[in-house]
Formats: sequence, C-alpha cells, structure tokens
Amino acid sequence: MVRNLTKSFGKKKVLDNVSFNIYQNEIVLIIGFSGTGKSTLLKLICGLEEPDSGEVILKTDHLGMVFQGAALFDSMTVFENIAFPLVNQTKKISADEINTKVMEKLKMVGLSEVENLRPDELSGGMKKRVGFARAIINNPKVILYDEPTGGLDPVVSNVIVDYILKLQKELNASSILVTHNLNVIKKIPARVILIYDAQIVWEGNSSELFSSDDPYAKQFREGAAKGPMVVIKE
Ligand SMILES: Nc1ncnc2c1ncn2[C@@H]1O[C@H](COP(=O)(O)OP(=O)(O)OP(=O)(O)O)[C@@H](O)[C@H]1O
Ligand SMILES: [Mg+2]
Repeated sequence: MVRNLTKSFGKKKVLDNVSFNIYQNEIVLIIGFSGTGKSTLLKLICGLEEPDSGEVILKTDHLGMVFQGAALFDSMTVFENIAFPLVNQTKKISADEINTKVMEKLKMVGLSEVENLRPDELSGGMKKRVGFARAIINNPKVILYDEPTGGLDPVVSNVIVDYILKLQKELNASSILVTHNLNVIKKIPARVILIYDAQIVWEGNSSELFSSDDPYAKQFREGAAKGPMVVIKE
C-alpha cells in the first residue's frame, strides 16, 4: 500500500499526499497526462526514489521494474541484459542456473533465438519483452511497468498487453502499470487511478473510465484540451 506519499523536485511538488492500496494478484493502472508524476510514483514504489514524506508498505521486497523505454544496455547481448540482476546480486548462483533462468524467462515472453543479439538488432516490441524478461528474472511478486506500450503500433501493443496479462497470471503477481494508451486501458480489467496536479483525481475500474460522467475521467478518455485538467503544452 502507498500511504500519503509526497515528493517534490526543487520547488515543484510532483506528488502530494497520494494514497492507494495494492492488493495481491491485482492490476492497478496509473494514468494521467504527461509530466504528472507517474514515473516518479513507480520509482518511489520500487525504492529508486525516496519520498519526502509518506511510505510504501508492501508484503514483499520482491519487485520487478520495467522502465519507460525498456532501458536495455546497448552494449550487452539480450542474454547479458536479462542475466544482469542475477550476476549483480549478492547471492551468487552458477552459470548453469543463470542460463536456465534466462532461457525460461525468454520463453515466457515468447522470444527464442535472440539471446545473442544486441538491443539495436531487435524491434521495439521485442525490446520491451526483453525488458519484461529482465524484470521478472527473480519471479517478483509485484511487477511495475512504465509505459510498456510506448512507441509501439496498436497490433504490437496488443501483443504486449497479452504478455502482461499472461505474466500476471503465471507469476501470481500484483502489477502496477503506467499508461496513457486508451486501448491498453480498455483491454486490461483493472483498478484505475488518474493522477493530475500531484493528486489522485479519479479512481474507478477500466470500464467505468469509459462510462463515467466524472469530468476528469471524461476529459482523459476524450483527450480534451478543455476540462478540469489544464494540459501544459511543452
Ligand atoms: N530526478 C528528477 N529531478 C528533477 N525533476 C524531476 C525528476 N524526475 C522527474 N522530475 C519532474 O517531475 C515531474 C513528473 O515527472 P514524471 O517523469 O514522474 O512524469 P510522468 O507522469 O511519468 O510523465 P510522462 O508521461 O511524460 O512519462 C516532471 O515535471 C519532471 O520534470
Ligand atoms: Mg513517465
């Protein structure tokens, strides 16, 4: 659970007293226009950033993070990228074990015969899935995805969504997914949290987002410039 999280960068308050529950085996979608603090929220949940106040209470410290834009190491092979968390953990495991785990995770994300390629030899969708494999290498109980379909076409996005649902099921995990892709939200039955101006302005489920009369939900799904949320043009 996320309790009263507040975080500023300089004078800018990015999150202001944000609280919500994360239940086991559930998907939470974090949505909101650009620059509203979604990535920051994920980084606070996985401990990459420290909150100014508030806390993140999870029953597990077994987390996997899929970064915005995949964030693979370009100079490493797919195998080395996925093995990275294993090679760098304090508990050492054998090369055989690493090999077994990496190949098992590659299979789970539907990739084969790519382990010796480098990220720039892969398509956008494949890169994202390598990012998934790296994030789940230790069978996390909470998986955090930051814009997993960013920059992908609608067909590949659907494939990615199918893998997110599959991993959710197979790992029996909770997933927290940041997205602003309406098709993704439509396809994933989940609790949805809409963030604006550092706060949660609407909470409901995926289908309610498309039917609700709430002005925030309505503006988000219509992508309207006019509404309670002022869209800052960058
Ligand atoms: N490490 C940092 N130092 C300073 N400012 C930061 C830092 N990280 C984020 N910010 C600022 O905090 C605000 C929220 O950023 P964040 O990346 O969380 O937004 P976001 O909702 O993920 O946006 P997008 O949809 O574009 O990915 C932005 O104004 C950003 O410039
Ligand atoms: Mg972001």
